[in-house]
Amino acid sequence: MQSITSVRLTSRLPLTFNHATRKSQIVSRFSTTAPRLDYEHIIVSTPVPGVRQVTLNRPKALNALFTPLILEVNDALKAADSDDEVGAIVITGGQKAFAAGADIKEMKDKTFAEVYKHSFIRNWSDATQIRKPLLAAVNGYALGGGCELAMMADIIYAGEKAVFGQPEIKLGIIPGAGGTQRLTRLIGKSRAMEYILTGKTFTAKEALEWGLVSAVHPVDTLVDEALKTASLIASHGRLAVQAAKEAVNYGTQVGLDQGLLYERRLFHSLFATKDQKEGMSAFAEKRAAVFKGE
Ligand code: CAA
Repeated sequence: MQSITSVRLTSRLPLTFNHATRKSQIVSRFSTTAPRLDYEHIIVSTPVPGVRQVTLNRPKALNALFTPLILEVNDALKAADSDDEVGAIVITGGQKAFAAGADIKEMKDKTFAEVYKHSFIRNWSDATQIRKPLLAAVNGYALGGGCELAMMADIIYAGEKAVFGQPEIKLGIIPGAGGTQRLTRLIGKSRAMEYILTGKTFTAKEALEWGLVSAVHPVDTLVDEALKTASLIASHGRLAVQAAKEAVNYGTQVGLDQGLLYERRLFHSLFATKDQKEGMSAFAEKRAAVFKGE
């Protein structure tokens, strides 16, 4: 079993990030907790304070998503979500593959009765129930279920050589973990239709142009870039971060008026928190805020 020490990655990250405003200055008040280390198909670490990293680690099968791996991912994400020390989560894979999709060998002999009765892959979308920000750092292949898993994240960064696609059509099936729905909402109907119906792949550059990913980074620095962003997010008040994620996600499901009302209600509710008092007082007193998630 592999494990990553906090020290190694921490030492690769700059001690201070180039924050634009003083309110963003990181006050190091988090202590790292030891995540569970006895996973077989993933590596879980806390490479920087406040950030949990989940690394898919089944390289021989290009991180093909079979049930044991998905169960571990779900377990690790839920543990991070309920850990007060964690403010953001990064999910990543290897340099050759984020994940090459659902495990075709696991699926090939399944019958309709089996997959229907047990609602096969329904639990894949557990990642969307995580309330803390989830960043996907995608190097290499993100195909089929791999692309779908990335799209469950709140922010996707791609490595320069990332390859995205929903090639299920070539297997006689269609995407089953959100590909037809999320890809369409993210890159538009015509493009999604083209790539889902042909099974063609698209590049990191195209994914950036179409808004699927928010940044493309060199392969070697991709994960550190995701960690930096996650660390910045984790430095902010946890309640505000959680509310912001909730508001954005809610807005993708409803009409504008309903979304705006929801946003305003959450905005109002944050005035009941100590973090709001602290954030605004710190601004007025020209000092860095110390948020406690209260
Ligand atoms: N399932 C199971 N095993 C997989 C796999 C997958 N999705 N993708 C790769 N592997 C395995 C290969 O079988 C191979 O194993 P062996 O060494 O034991 O033969 C190993 O990973 C390395 O793969 P390749 O030799 O094929 O590597 P490559 O560099 O030549 O090709 C690739 C890479 C283009 C990604 C190719 O592996 C490929 O096309 N994979 C399948 C992609 C795919 O169709 N994904 C969609 C799956 S269906 C799905 O995801 C449904 C859903 O919506 C939930």
